[in-house]
Amino acid sequence: MKGDCSSFFRNKIILAPMVRMNTLPFRLLALDYGADIVFSEEIIDHKILKSDRRINDILGTVDYIDKTDGSLIFRTCAREKDKIIFQIGTSCPERAAKAASIVEKDVAGIDINMGCPKHFSISGGMGAALLSNLPNACSIVRSIKQEVQIPVTCKIRVLEDTSETLNFCKAMEESGVSAITVHGRTLKERPQHSNRDSVIREIAANLSIPVIANGGSNNIDRYEDILKFKEVTKCSSIMVARAAQFNASIFRKNKLPLDDVIKAYLRYAIKYDNLFPNTKYCVQSMLRDLQETPRGKLFLETQNLLQICELWGLGEHCSQMASEYKLQGMLVQCEVLL
Ligand code: FNR
Repeated sequence: MKGDCSSFFRNKIILAPMVRMNTLPFRLLALDYGADIVFSEEIIDHKILKSDRRINDILGTVDYIDKTDGSLIFRTCAREKDKIIFQIGTSCPERAAKAASIVEKDVAGIDINMGCPKHFSISGGMGAALLSNLPNACSIVRSIKQEVQIPVTCKIRVLEDTSETLNFCKAMEESGVSAITVHGRTLKERPQHSNRDSVIREIAANLSIPVIANGGSNNIDRYEDILKFKEVTKCSSIMVARAAQFNASIFRKNKLPLDDVIKAYLRYAIKYDNLFPNTKYCVQSMLRDLQETPRGKLFLETQNLLQICELWGLGEHCSQMASEYKLQGMLVQCEVLL
């Protein structure tokens, strides 16, 4: 994508990056329900650098496989190619640029995680550590931009001081990001704290590039709430994490019952042979309190994909797909059951 990349990020409703949640099945589900753009989970630059890119003809996907242990790092497909932003975790301009150039042909853009509060990220100089290292944050943006043709963006948290936050955002704009996502909480604040919508609004008013507002999920229960968040923050676009995690049909004008969402999710998990632990994690994230129901308790005991699918009436479909994949020579997730 060349030319004015920033228009790509205007007037969009976006699925936020979420570690473990945002593997291929969940991203496709969000697109089906109306998300305009979907972010990958954060993937650390080192991981991409030690991966092999392989075309998976059976699944119709592009897979990045860890050269050392054979694990799947990133799976994508043609359907999302123009909509997926690959989020990178990095502290090093050279490594970031190299990782970005490796995935460039499979994704629509590269986002740099500048907001992750986890100890692992901060201690490695990644995530929110970049908020207090402006020179390195700028170098990373410039370095990636030199290497790739697709848009480069970053996702930040607000700082305690609004004018410092604004300075940081302006420096990002000058370094060449096509858009910036602002989560309206500081590094120390947790999801239950209120989101600083007015700081996001001030940033949006002072930048030329699109500002994507994030952090509104506590007040997002249906589609109209996304529009309200846009109205309050006066941003170009909105990014949603937890409200989508709990029910991905939030991107539709009429939210669907959770059971329908879980079924649709499971169909993608089967289709793309999603790893069982990841599938279980995602369904568990959607179930929340419903884990206490009789079916929820049975769900917690499941040990493979087929068992989960049986609970939602998809057992036969799961077995059938697994047999088809096996016939084509693939080692499938629920192989043990066939
Ligand atoms: C996140 N968040 C996050 N942020 C990021 O930049 N990269 C990531 O990989 C993740 N991973 C992640 C996992 C899960 C399970 C959650 C709930 C959150 C933060 C997320 O993108 C977002 O900034 C916050 O959740 C605030 O937005 P909401 O939830 O209020 O819409």
